Amino acid sequence: MEISGKTQVFCVIGDPVEHSLSPTMHNAAFKHLNLNAVYVAFKVKSDELENAIKGIRSLGIRGVNVTMPHKSTIINYLDEVDQTAKFVGAVNTLLNDNGKLIGFNTDGIGALRALKENQAYPEGKKVLLLGAGGAARAIAFQLAQVTEELRILNRNGEKARQLANLLRKELGRNVVGDQLSPILIEKWLEDSDILVNSTSVGMHPNTDQTVVKREWLRNELTVMDIVYDPIETRLIRDSKDAGAKVIHGTEMLLFQGAASFEIWWGRPAPIEVMRNAILKKIREREK
Ligand code: ATR
Repeated sequence: MEISGKTQVFCVIGDPVEHSLSPTMHNAAFKHLNLNAVYVAFKVKSDELENAIKGIRSLGIRGVNVTMPHKSTIINYLDEVDQTAKFVGAVNTLLNDNGKLIGFNTDGIGALRALKENQAYPEGKKVLLLGAGGAARAIAFQLAQVTEELRILNRNGEKARQLANLLRKELGRNVVGDQLSPILIEKWLEDSDILVNSTSVGMHPNTDQTVVKREWLRNELTVMDIVYDPIETRLIRDSKDAGAKVIHGTEMLLFQGAASFEIWWGRPAPIEVMRNAILKKIREREK
């Protein structure tokens, strides 16, 4: 694709942003579909966020991904925020619709699609979710709408209880929350169908960390980790070893990106192309 006067610009803003895989994934998709568009990364410090938003408006940047530390504060500067992003209190995708900036959160939809595309269907199932941070809130909001029971455990127990209470109240669904402890993980995992780790445990450089003991994992279980650095986390390794079905963090990364793509372009994202681009980049880095 030749850059021309008609080239549309997309970007991710955050700090740090140098290692974001979004440019890799989206540029691969643009190229594959022959779209006249480029995707770049902009490092934006917290005290520059407001100016950056003005820049997005004035330069007509068409679509933006938002990452740490701006996911929550950005809400103050937008014209509209969709229902999911409102509930989560965080935005990871902006659409610039002829000057109107609309915020979305695709983390939860991405996690749900990652499960389904890997033949794990949470509908009517019991699901154990570890974590109650930003990503966990987005995932919990989507999961709770379809599961028979959603169980949330978090190191800070109050956050897990509050999230469960809110989901019960807002959605009228069966959700419980408590403090993460070995006893409760073992007990709640026993009759769960799916386990989702949405904590940062196991992330580089603490690659040997896990809160789930190998002996609690079994082969009827599906285990999804949202940590993708490394691709093969300790939890994923132990789960494989136990014969469980595993879904790597790269799948959630892929499908949240695919959902952003679909918001911007109104057409299906080229999943396989995006997946290959991410995996190639990560493998190069892991060498
Ligand atoms: P993100 O936006 O990626 O979800 P976050 O909002 O900072 O990031 O959430 C990080 C999650 O990982 C939280 O659930 C956090 O637990 P607390 O709420 O108790 O802080 C969890 N987490 C981080 N380190 C952890 C550890 N060593 N053990 C257990 N949970 C941990």
